[in-house]
Amino acid sequence: MKRKQFADGVFWMGAVDWDRRVFDSLIPTPEGTSYNSWLITTPEKTVLFDTVDPAKTDVLMSQLADIERIDYIVTHHAEQDHSGSLPVVMKEFPEAVVLCTPKCRSILTRLMPLDANRIRVVEDGEILDIGGGRKLQFMHMPWVHWPETMVTWCPTDGILFSCDLFGSHLATSQLVVPWEVVYDPAKRYYAEIMMPFRQKIAGYLERLDALPIKMICPSHGPMHADPAPIMNSYREWVGGKPANKVLIPFISMHGSTERMVSLLVSELAALDVIVKPFNMIETDLGQLAESAIDAATIILASPTVLGGAHPFVLSAAAVVGLLKPKTMYLGVMGSYSWGGRMPDQLAAAVSTLKAEVLEPLLVEGYPDGEDAARIRELARKIHDLHAAAGLK
Ligand code: FEO
Repeated sequence: MKRKQFADGVFWMGAVDWDRRVFDSLIPTPEGTSYNSWLITTPEKTVLFDTVDPAKTDVLMSQLADIERIDYIVTHHAEQDHSGSLPVVMKEFPEAVVLCTPKCRSILTRLMPLDANRIRVVEDGEILDIGGGRKLQFMHMPWVHWPETMVTWCPTDGILFSCDLFGSHLATSQLVVPWEVVYDPAKRYYAEIMMPFRQKIAGYLERLDALPIKMICPSHGPMHADPAPIMNSYREWVGGKPANKVLIPFISMHGSTERMVSLLVSELAALDVIVKPFNMIETDLGQLAESAIDAATIILASPTVLGGAHPFVLSAAAVVGLLKPKTMYLGVMGSYSWGGRMPDQLAAAVSTLKAEVLEPLLVEGYPDGEDAARIRELARKIHDLHAAAGLK
């Protein structure tokens, strides 16, 4: 796509990656994504914000073909989907100076061949006058994906260039889409990318509340012409209590664990607890992550395979352990025939969560009537814990 102007001297640039179907070799991106760059030109300076994934360098370079000089390349984040084209852009624009955090400078020079003398670090809160009555303020915000990230505030236009924060994996030809179109991709993206850092983000939201933001330009997906819906959604996702909801990632090999899951789903539903089973044979990890945002309880359900947990359930547990949702209660259930370490393995994989661990519920072979009663008790216990915590 060609670059698009959306304010006086302010342009969207970058690449829409319609075909990208997985990110970080882990998370599916069923709706593609974009790598957004932004350009501000004033009578005195030209500033490029971020570059694109190296696979799309040619797209960015064609958008820059009629630009004679770039003074600054603001690099919010060293990850290659935004910095990967830097070597080419810096070669093409030899006067351009990269502006970034000290940590970003260090990471960039380890990741790619760059002239460190052309990378200038900026302080948190530093203001840069770029002429034409415009100023930029750099705000260090570590962990709005990596430890080196920052955002840029342009007070004259009320624009926040927000790095990965407030992004979405959504390929679209529109700069702005209706909120109901971007809501799900943005929520899923939050779960996959931002959820592990929710406590830091809660603090950043307070810092950003002090700014009269008119629009948000994230590094992925469409812009937010109205900042309120995305910022309010982030407030809800990072803070507050989880919902009266149970998530059950499971695998069954011969039907025993599936029967246990089916009984638990039925009992929970009868108690008006929201319940969402995910069969890990076919579950999209992004959907699982999104559902984990507000699940008060996660029950990992696995058969016993060669003395341990099924690898697909272990994988789900590892993802949950990495993403650190605000889960309050964790449980393990499943079947076995001759023992094993399945509960311990799964509990260890989610030990990063600050959740109360429930007594494992194990069944030898196929669940019988007595086992069904134990599952009913587990459902009642979860219901009562949720009720005592005032979850809705
Ligand atoms: Fe979109 Fe963390 O890079």
